[in-house]
Amino acid sequence: MPRLLLVSNRLPVTVKADARESMVIPSSGGLATGLRGPHQRSDGLWIGWPGDTSKLKPAQLAQVNQELADLKTVPVQLTASEVSRFYEGFSNGVLWPLFHYLLQRVPIDVHDWDAYRRVNYRFADAVIAQYREGDLIWVHDYQLTLVPGILRKALPRAKIGFFLHIPFPATDVFRILPWREEILDGMLGADLVGFHTYGYLRHFAKSIVRSLDASFSIDRIPYQGRTVRLGVFPMGIDVASFEKLATDDDVLAQVRSIREEAKGQQLFLGVDRLDYTKGIQYRLFAMERLLEREPKLRGRVRLIQVAVPSRERVDAYASFRRQVDETVGRINGTYGSVGQAPIHYLYRSFSQRQITALYRAADVMMVTPLRDGMNLVAKEFVASRTDGDGVLVLSEFAGAHSELGEAITVNPYDIEGMAASFKRALRMPEEERRSRMRTLRERIQRHDVHRWADSFIATMEHLPQAEPIGDTP
Ligand code: F6P
Repeated sequence: MPRLLLVSNRLPVTVKADARESMVIPSSGGLATGLRGPHQRSDGLWIGWPGDTSKLKPAQLAQVNQELADLKTVPVQLTASEVSRFYEGFSNGVLWPLFHYLLQRVPIDVHDWDAYRRVNYRFADAVIAQYREGDLIWVHDYQLTLVPGILRKALPRAKIGFFLHIPFPATDVFRILPWREEILDGMLGADLVGFHTYGYLRHFAKSIVRSLDASFSIDRIPYQGRTVRLGVFPMGIDVASFEKLATDDDVLAQVRSIREEAKGQQLFLGVDRLDYTKGIQYRLFAMERLLEREPKLRGRVRLIQVAVPSRERVDAYASFRRQVDETVGRINGTYGSVGQAPIHYLYRSFSQRQITALYRAADVMMVTPLRDGMNLVAKEFVASRTDGDGVLVLSEFAGAHSELGEAITVNPYDIEGMAASFKRALRMPEEERRSRMRTLRERIQRHDVHRWADSFIATMEHLPQAEPIGDTP
């Protein structure tokens, strides 16, 4: 197999540093978790940002760089201003809300766009410095949409793939972006552009027809003398690793202690990065509605909501955090009593082991994003249920919904409907729970992350080599 160069904004490890010490810890988020396995198995390199290393003293930096090299990663350092404009400003302040249809959150700032372009060039330069003839280059996600186009010019014959981990929005939403042509042109520098769902692929193809006036036929676009292939590759998870943890004695002991601590209450669970796209706020409103409508459930149910800190310096995230804090406080103030609170809100990171114990302990898993490219948490929950029990409540706006039809489907904007679905999930007979879970498990086992990565790489490998770009328009 050719050598693989993975390229993503965030490396699978992040450097956490203060004046006294520095640590290299695993990154959170689906991309890092999902690609860790394929990276470890391949002989290639992972090129990306290691997080803020500006506070490190020279000796600390040298040590961190050695650790990163040992992990077969190549750091692309960003200055404080680039973090603010490229990462927080354009990637997470503009593209993220726009691609998730949250239009009122999109501020357009030309300086942030300039920084986005500059940093995309920097990533491309780092790839070019590592590239050897025959390597496969696989670029990931919305932070780096221009990289394939830049690489195509510098390495005309290289095999380049691009995968978008978030939704590609409908054309009328995408064309709000003043730099829509540049973004499309950048992505089309790849030989293969992959999406989680057919819907996202269709939106992308329609945007191309509209903005670039190019034609397309289902899965291929003739562009600048080359043919760009489009494909649907729904990302999976490392099922075996979750199954192994879910049957580990130590994890099972944690499951027992979570259940004992709940003292017979039924457990709802939510596990998300603290992000306004994840629907945490509306989920809490629906829990509140359920407790309001069903006095008998008060004191009998508990929601454990894990919120992993994320993008804390982006204003929208900081204010969203305050809103969630306030809502949790209000619900607990109204429906809690001395010694019991309906919402157990945990704003911190957990290890995969601890999260697996929570998945195993839950009666009902709530995955209710307003919009989500895929949502791997839903799949992690199913993978962890080696006992064959548990109910998944899943938003119809998560990419995972097109694969996990046996979940209880909810519209995350419909508070009343969600409250009713939560009740239905609590009351679902054991036979039905098990039968739905059986089918869900079979499906995620068949389509795990290894198969996802292998099929993208194999498709890329078998594409004909690009001819150098000529003068063809
Ligand atoms: O899946 C979307 C994504 O932005 C990934 O690209 C990223 O790894 C993850 O979410 C976490 O986000 P961040 O790197 O901004 O912490």
